[in-house]
Amino acid sequence: MKPTIRPATPADVSALLDIEHESFSDAHWRAKDFLTDECIVAELNGRAAGFLVSRETFHDAAGGLSEREILNLAVSPPFRGMGIASTLLRYELRHKAVYFLEVRESNLAARALYRRFGFIESGRRSEYYQRPSEGAIVMQMKKC
Ligand SMILES: CC(C)(COP(=O)(O)OP(=O)(O)OC[C@H]1O[C@@H](n2cnc3c(N)ncnc32)[C@H](O)[C@@H]1OP(=O)(O)O)[C@@H](O)C(=O)NCCC(=O)NCCS
Repeated sequence: MKPTIRPATPADVSALLDIEHESFSDAHWRAKDFLTDECIVAELNGRAAGFLVSRETFHDAAGGLSEREILNLAVSPPFRGMGIASTLLRYELRHKAVYFLEVRESNLAARALYRRFGFIESGRRSEYYQRPSEGAIVMQMKKC
């Protein structure tokens, strides 16, 4: 089943908060955080099944490419393993940009997902996350 990808609206925020809490041990995003930057929603059967939040950090930074950061990505547990995160990422990567993101070291599923899309692991930030305390792997990729 292929989800519809669309921009998030204020009506989505409660469902997005639910997905955030189902997905992260240190869930800390508040309602307003979802609509501050660019949030897209994957909708299946009229229901928000996942979301991706990104922002442009520099416009026309390196060699004419912008820089973008993926700030948050999660799929509701019953909808995982169906290609929803891949559909969200594919849509996000329509931008020509140098991308950056951080991911928990122990999050092998997300690290595999990003590698599948061409991200490379370019650094590590120690004690970046809390609950539990853990380092982050910095990943990046150039989408031309
Ligand atoms: C990581 C996450 C977003 C993946 O969402 P998803 O919709 O299930 O992912 P997809 O179905 O598009 O999977 C695409 C690829 O990701 C990787 N992947 C996804 N789930 C995986 C798992 N449980 N174990 C290992 N690899 C996994 C695989 O490479 C997979 O490709 P494959 O199906 O050909 O093996 C989802 O598990 C999630 O929301 N986790 C909690 C929140 C989170 O970790 N967000 C990322 C923060 S950086």
